[in-house]
Amino acid sequence: MASPRSVAVIVGSLRKDSLNRKMARAAIALAPATLSARIVEIGELPHYNADLDGDAPPAAWVAFRDAISPCNGVLFVTPEFNRSVPGALKNSIDVGSRPYGKSVWSGKPCSVISVSPGPIGAFGANHHLRQSFVFLDMPAMQQPEAYIGNAGKLFDDSGAITEERTRALITTFMATFAAWVERHAAA
Ligand code: FNR
Repeated sequence: MASPRSVAVIVGSLRKDSLNRKMARAAIALAPATLSARIVEIGELPHYNADLDGDAPPAAWVAFRDAISPCNGVLFVTPEFNRSVPGALKNSIDVGSRPYGKSVWSGKPCSVISVSPGPIGAFGANHHLRQSFVFLDMPAMQQPEAYIGNAGKLFDDSGAITEERTRALITTFMATFAAWVERHAAA
């Protein structure tokens, strides 16, 4: 078998018991063997400031850019904050997008799972993120969409998805994303 394609998983929440982190782990566990996915942390990235982005940018920025660069694809798993993406997630996108002309996101196939304890499944965050993908030139998988609402009781103590319908959706989502990544990696 060819070696698996690598996927960076960005989790938009920083809190320890995050539903989105649980979803990210569950999605990684349900991914086909053709994908090698791992979470790349964003919590320690200083706020983007172009004044710091010279010859010696912050080490956390350099490490983050170096982690994303070699990946074949990116999966974003995010909550919604005030009907948009959390600031930490947006900051990670901004850090990866600079210096100008050296964005680590360019051309990388991506997808989004949004998770909320509320009923709308963080639809607003999901679609605000898609607006950035256009400028970042990241081909975004359109279907299946994954707006996971009412997620407060979705995970058991081991972090597994308890609801068969959602487990099936995420399994299909990850299989389709693997094919999406492969299509762009092979192009
Ligand atoms: C929220 N939350 C929230 N939920 C939602 O569905 N739409 C929203 O616009 C918001 N806005 C919002 C703003 C801020 C500042 C916070 C802290 C929270 C609730 C949010 O979905 C909930 O806290 C989730 O549990 C956060 O995701 P994690 O941390 O569980 O992954």
